[in-house]
Amino acid sequence: MLLICLAVFLNYMGVFTHLLEKDYYSEFSYPLDVDLQPLVKDLLVGQVPPTKPINVFNYNYLKPCEKKCANNSSPTILFVVKSALHNFKQREAIRQTWGYQNRFSDVEIRRVFLLGTGTDPEIQLEIDLEDGVHHDIVQADFHDDYRNNTLKTMSGFKWAVDNCPSARFVLFSDDDMYISTKNVLRFIRNPLNYPVEEPITSIDKGREHRERSLKQESLADDVAHLASDEGDSAVGSYVFHSPPQRHKPSKWYVSLDEYPYHLWPPYVTAGAYVVSREALLNLHYGSYYTKYFQFDDIFLALVALKVNISPVHCKEFYFWKKTYSKLGYRDVIASHGYGNPDELRSVWNEQKSAGHA
Ligand SMILES: *[C@@H]1O[C@H](CO)[C@@H](O)[C@H](O)[C@H]1NC(C)=O
Ligand SMILES: *[C@@H]1O[C@H](CO)[C@@H](O)[C@H](O)[C@H]1NC(C)=O
Repeated sequence: MLLICLAVFLNYMGVFTHLLEKDYYSEFSYPLDVDLQPLVKDLLVGQVPPTKPINVFNYNYLKPCEKKCANNSSPTILFVVKSALHNFKQREAIRQTWGYQNRFSDVEIRRVFLLGTGTDPEIQLEIDLEDGVHHDIVQADFHDDYRNNTLKTMSGFKWAVDNCPSARFVLFSDDDMYISTKNVLRFIRNPLNYPVEEPITSIDKGREHRERSLKQESLADDVAHLASDEGDSAVGSYVFHSPPQRHKPSKWYVSLDEYPYHLWPPYVTAGAYVVSREALLNLHYGSYYTKYFQFDDIFLALVALKVNISPVHCKEFYFWKKTYSKLGYRDVIASHGYGNPDELRSVWNEQKSAGHA
């Protein structure tokens, strides 16, 4: 009797399932099992690839926000914020803090919020009004629910590729994050060594550039040398290397049928991550040939693996709430846990005054 109880308990905890897992390193494959890179290349140049896509986002955009990057603008950074329908106050706080588009006179910043649709016409009316004022809502007609987060992420990638492909970097984030706009720009300038400043002499940009960056502490200059890194397919954030949850009651439980391996591909925290333009395109078109997966962080990781992008780890993207202190937030790029708009404003204002946001 005791043994049976023990067996039932262990099964419930997913112990046996772990034993049945396949080895990630030697056995990994995930549909569609084809070489993605030539197919993605075809899509990038507007040709029809020989293999049919299996996973295309084809919901309509009720609010396409198509003028966001009009007038030949080429933003250095585009903020794409996954938001929930009723989070009006959080969106307002983000507009006034880290999502403020005119934060720097010499760095173009753009911001949109991603929404699905709901059933309450009054909320929709408010969203219509909100968009009429701010012109920053991208709304697609799938049901807005956290379990549809992968759809929301796909809606954002497609939107950015179609409507703002000139953006050099895109930061995808949730609407309960603290983000330091300034540190995001520092990060994209030197993602592998953040937060250590690159010594000026190692910037191989000639004397003119050195003198300019010494003279004026201009973010535009910092960012300008990124342009020369054109072609880099990069994704940066906190990178996890962890096993799937086989513990049945877990919110993140996943069956062997859905995913049989003992490890996930390296994945970035979905709360905030930065992708370069190249990576945006590769991930977007790569997703056409990657079977839908319900967790957006894992889905992205699967696509990234298939298009050969290894995410860059940076611990200054906090997927939990980093305890606040004025100095302790100097290098923080993103921290989770700012669903309270007043708290976001006060932290952001203090960091901005201190020169860290
Ligand atoms: C584009 O330019 C027009 C005319 O100058 C202006 O009214 C409009 O606001 C600009 N749009 C954006 C997105 O900057
Ligand atoms: C996700 O969106 C689709 C399309 O609107 C909908 O059919 C489905 O019920 C949604 N899923 C959840 C969990 O809300």
